[in-house]
Amino acid sequence: MPTDEYRQVLQNNRDWVARTMEEDPSFFETLAAGQSPDFLYIGCADSRVPANTIMGLRPGSVFVHRNVGNLVVNTDANAQAVIQYAVEHLHVRHVIVCGHYGCGAAHAATEHADHGLLHGWLGEIRDVYRFHQDELEALPDEEARHRRLIELNVWEQCANVIKTSALQRHYEEFGFPSVHGWVYDLSDGLIKDLAIPFEALREEVQRLHHVGPG
Ligand code: CO
Repeated sequence: MPTDEYRQVLQNNRDWVARTMEEDPSFFETLAAGQSPDFLYIGCADSRVPANTIMGLRPGSVFVHRNVGNLVVNTDANAQAVIQYAVEHLHVRHVIVCGHYGCGAAHAATEHADHGLLHGWLGEIRDVYRFHQDELEALPDEEARHRRLIELNVWEQCANVIKTSALQRHYEEFGFPSVHGWVYDLSDGLIKDLAIPFEALREEVQRLHHVGPG
């Protein structure tokens, strides 16, 4: 027997369709004809960080990939397929990796506990900690370390996006997309742009991981 909450979301959907059609009768017809989003957003699966809502964008504007901890792992066929499709076929102008303070994945990664299947996945965040151990352990308290780990994780995941052959090839040919790192603050709803030096990072990655000749 479906619960009231379950029935309610289907009713919400019908209400939303009615409101949307009232504002723009051709809304669904236009979207059904195709998508041409400017943004690829890679974020955490956390229910409090919905991509379109925080960006103020309507359907059709952002291609989205979310997982636990906003990770870009080179053996994750899902994330890699999303990046390739968004870059090579949709020709997005910007790729955004968005983490968030208060991320349970980052907390769990730094706990001394076995999280089962999740343990291996969170190992990616433990690697970020290990790469930046000196900086993190010089911070005064747990909260400061957590916040900085979130930022450094976003930074490293941006580097992982830049390492993909799709990004490198497309950028060399067309001069886009650029890659941006964000942290969303649950406590005030604001996005902090980490101002990741995309060009410098791209050049650094290119020296180590360049996919083309020379
Ligand atoms: Co999270």
